[in-house]
Amino acid sequence: MEALCGVNFEAKKGEFVIIAGPSGSGKSTLLNLLGLLDTPTDGRIVIDGVDVSTLRESRRTRLRNEKIGFVFQFFNLMPELNLIENVMLPGLIYGTNKEKLRREAAELLRMIGLDGQMKQGGSQLSGGQMQRAAVARALINQPSIVLADEPTGNLDSKNTEEIIELMRKLNKRNKQTFLIVTHAPEMFGQADKTIFLKDGTIERISS
Ligand SMILES: Nc1ncnc2c1ncn2[C@@H]1O[C@H](COP(=O)(O)OP(=O)(O)OP(=O)(O)O)[C@@H](O)[C@H]1O
Ligand SMILES: [Mg+2]
Repeated sequence: MEALCGVNFEAKKGEFVIIAGPSGSGKSTLLNLLGLLDTPTDGRIVIDGVDVSTLRESRRTRLRNEKIGFVFQFFNLMPELNLIENVMLPGLIYGTNKEKLRREAAELLRMIGLDGQMKQGGSQLSGGQMQRAAVARALINQPSIVLADEPTGNLDSKNTEEIIELMRKLNKRNKQTFLIVTHAPEMFGQADKTIFLKDGTIERISS
């Protein structure tokens, strides 16, 4: 059985796109394909004019590090690292100069109001703080695309609104393209475009 079939859409640079649909409709599968974590058996994925579905694994990995930032539902902060180190991590993996990274991570943490907690361990933060940190971490390599899979799935409505506002602010400021899987009704009003999936295919797109 195919998890996705007949899914055809375009996201423009700087667009804030919501992906919605019932459980099992293929949202995470779609995001994993877009994030080059998975390869389609058929069809094409084009990022900045390059068909990425046929690239060798080494190039896919480089593109993933260079162009894509991920935000997950379960934050995935490393408990043995403090907050600023967590935010720096994708940059360290990418091989960016450590001092430059530290400055950029500090700047991001200031922007999201967590500069007071920089030295704190990941586990000493609240859920909302952890998710804000996870958004900062997704942005450290200045990706052109940010993918988020139910980023507010574990947050109460106040923190949900804060995360949405934060992502929208960053999206407008940095002109990065956001594709966000969500069930949060608060999110829908913010979208430039909403893609509704059902049974592995696009039911409709509203903008
Ligand atoms: N790599 C894969 N190959 C084939 N089928 C898959 C694969 N990954 C997931 N599936 C199936 O595809 C369907 C869509 O799964 P997916 O995880 O994308 O749903 P979802 O919309 O993210 O659901 P939820 O809201 O529960 O997270 C499911 O029936 C799942 O069992
Ligand atoms: Mg999912």
